[in-house]
Amino acid sequence: MLPRRTFLRRAAAMAAVLGLDPARLLRAADPTAAPISQPLSSGARFKSGHMLATWNHGIASNEEGWRQMQAGGTALDAVVEGTAVVESDPTGSSVGLGGRPDRDGKVTLDACVMNAAGDAGGVCFLEDIEHPVRVARAVMEDTPHVLLAGQGARDFAIAKGFKTRDLLTEDSRKAWEEWKKSAEYKPIINIENHDTIGMLAQDLEGNLAGACTTSGLAFKLRGRVGDSPIIGAGLFVDNEVGACTATGLGEAVMKTLGSFLVVELMRQGASPAEACLEATQRIAARMPVEDLQVGYLAMDISGRAGAHAIHGGFNYARTLGQRTQLIDAPSLD
Ligand code: GLY
Repeated sequence: MLPRRTFLRRAAAMAAVLGLDPARLLRAADPTAAPISQPLSSGARFKSGHMLATWNHGIASNEEGWRQMQAGGTALDAVVEGTAVVESDPTGSSVGLGGRPDRDGKVTLDACVMNAAGDAGGVCFLEDIEHPVRVARAVMEDTPHVLLAGQGARDFAIAKGFKTRDLLTEDSRKAWEEWKKSAEYKPIINIENHDTIGMLAQDLEGNLAGACTTSGLAFKLRGRVGDSPIIGAGLFVDNEVGACTATGLGEAVMKTLGSFLVVELMRQGASPAEACLEATQRIAARMPVEDLQVGYLAMDISGRAGAHAIHGGFNYARTLGQRTQLIDAPSLD
């Protein structure tokens, strides 16, 4: 656990970087301080199109999201079709096609979606389907359930018309062969480059939605499921408050129900940046973080965005109207 004075020092430094009131940020950063209790201050709902997506690949996701919105699509259309672009990219080694396999050489995928009405759908341990995020949408829209797993999720997808294909690319197969040579079970979370694609959108009506999709930890134990398909962990959306998605080591996110936590902190008055900072501090206060990375990305209904990671290297794409920026998230380092 980090000492209290380290929390305070880091929070004060962060306040300076973000141009925020240090007293308020210290309160958000310090898990021993009293909870933030002010109501959400801004009453105005942003309606000009706002998207956030994790990592460099988020640029392509947001571009597709903007196309969806320009064609009259909702925030849900934007996040599903935006993340589907990355699922189809064979160069992405942690999502969809080309995702690194489990220790048995099988690519297994997790995804979820949540819409402005608070409906949610997800799939986990899904094999042979290129677009788990679209299957997650179908679970939400066409079943009374929230989460389908494994063979059942695959059967459901096929029944809905999704085609099967082998998702193990030559690159991924080679990486798996290399990993096997070490004969040591050690899952790898990519902390420098990219991981889960999480995307949040607020459409031209001002409504929110989110999606999260991943192939999970490289060379994981077969059957392992991370945070990405779990509502409240990898993703949470509340159309009256804001939305959050997570990237990084799913076990740490699940143990702290991070995305739900971030949205609840925003409900109590924290800005997206303050809420993401506190959620990363919550992890650092509970477990050793030297070898794990988690990043949170959040927006509120008034058009504010924020992010925070445990370690440096997490970036995200932010699109406001037609303008897109790649932004480095602050970290606890
Ligand atoms: N965040 C992706 C995973 O842990 O599976």
